[in-house]
Amino acid sequence: MRRTFIAANWKMNGTQSSVRALLSTLLSRPFSQKNTEVAFLAPSIFMPLLEITLKNSPFLYGGQDLSEFQRGAYTGEISGEMLKDAGCTYVIVGHSERRTLFHDTDDRVAEKFKAAQASGLIPILCVGETLKQREAGQTEAVIAKQLQIVLECVGIEAMAKAVIAYEPVWAIGTGQTATPAQAQAVHQFIRKQLSNLNPTIAHALQIIYGGSVKPDSAADLFAQADIDGGLIGGASLNADDFYRIMCAT
Ligand code: PGA
Repeated sequence: MRRTFIAANWKMNGTQSSVRALLSTLLSRPFSQKNTEVAFLAPSIFMPLLEITLKNSPFLYGGQDLSEFQRGAYTGEISGEMLKDAGCTYVIVGHSERRTLFHDTDDRVAEKFKAAQASGLIPILCVGETLKQREAGQTEAVIAKQLQIVLECVGIEAMAKAVIAYEPVWAIGTGQTATPAQAQAVHQFIRKQLSNLNPTIAHALQIIYGGSVKPDSAADLFAQADIDGGLIGGASLNADDFYRIMCAT
C-alpha cells in the first residue's frame, strides 16, 4: 500500500514572517500522518527556520533544486550536501520552470537526480508535456524520453528511493487542471514503463500529480488508482487551501 504524499512547492515566495504564520496555522490543526506524508519544498534561505519550526512535528521539508556538482566554484548554487546538512529530506529535480526558464536539459536533470541521491536526499523527479506536445499526441513519447534519460544515468533500482511528479506544463500555474482521467492515464503509463523494468519497484513508487491542484479538485485526483498525492504550487501558500488538500486523501 503506497502512502499518500502531499508536497508544497512554495517556488520563489514567502518571507520569514509569512512562513512562520503559515506553518504555525498548519501545526495547530489536527493531522494524522498514518496514511499521508507532508513536505514543504522551500527556498533554501528558509531551511534554518524550517528546521527549528518543524522539529518534533509530523512534517518534512526539502529544496526546490540543487546543483549537479558536489562542491566548488559554482557561484550561487546549492549542493545536495548543503540541503541534507540543513535537514532536508527531499529535493525537486527537473521542475518545468527549471527546464524552460533555466535551461535544465534532460541530461542535467539526470545528473541532479544522481547528485540528490548521492547526498542522501530523495529526488522528486518532475516530468510532463507542454500543451503543444499534448495536442500533437506526443504526451507519452515526451514522458518516456524524460524518464529514459534519468534511468540510463541512474538505473531502475534508483527509483526505489525517489518520487515522480507528473506535471503537465499546461496545467502549472494556469488554473487549468488535468481531469482525473487524463492524469490517471499518464500516471498509469509512467508506472507501466517502470514496471517493464522492475514491477516491484514500480508498484511501490509514489507518483504524484502537480498542476493547479486546488482544494476542490484534490480528492478526485487523489482517488485515482495511480495517483499517490500531489505537488502543490499556488494553493500551498494559503494555509486553509493547503490544509484542505492535505485532508483530501
Ligand atoms: P501550481 O504549481 O499548483 O501553482 O500549478 C504546481 C507546481 O509547479 O509544482
